[in-house]
Amino acid sequence: MTLTQAEKAAVVTIWAKVATQADAIGAESLERLFCSYPATKTYFPHFDLSQGSAQLRGHGSKVMNAIGEAVKHIDNIRGALAKLSELHAYILRVDPVNFKLLSHCILCSVAAHYPTDFTPEVHAAWDKFLSSVSSVLTEKYR
Ligand code: HEM
Repeated sequence: MTLTQAEKAAVVTIWAKVATQADAIGAESLERLFCSYPATKTYFPHFDLSQGSAQLRGHGSKVMNAIGEAVKHIDNIRGALAKLSELHAYILRVDPVNFKLLSHCILCSVAAHYPTDFTPEVHAAWDKFLSSVSSVLTEKYR
């Protein structure tokens, strides 16, 4: 899935804003994930998943940090996330369907925080970018 130059530019621009609130948006995205799709909680039996817990916030921060790396290396997302891809495929074995769910929750959080910036074009570009990140993180499954 290749992003056009205009889509890349839109992702970089919205990310500049998201980055200023990345931890809050990461935690909110996970809260939305666990609330809307409770089955996803089964991957985190060792976490305290109550709203605002330190583990939830810490994990949200890690996820958003990885997304920031993908934005920084938007022309080489595969290279930027190679280690994470192996972790999710070989060790965590997260069912790929869950990446669509988390991507949707991240998209909702970004839209809720930046309603004016979240134009249809930005929506489409951000959605495509998250799909690319998910493809990279799930491509090693077999
Ligand atoms: C761990 C990113 C999707 C479950 C991690 C880590 C990062 C990350 C950065 C920490 C790695 C480390 O500590 O070295 C992402 C990104 C995703 C994604 C960017 C997609 C946009 C998912 C999904 C699930 C999931 C959909 C399951 C519903 C986990 C679990 C861990 C983990 C269980 C280990 C947590 C722990 O024990 O600390 N992920 N992840 N991830 N991820 Fe993901």
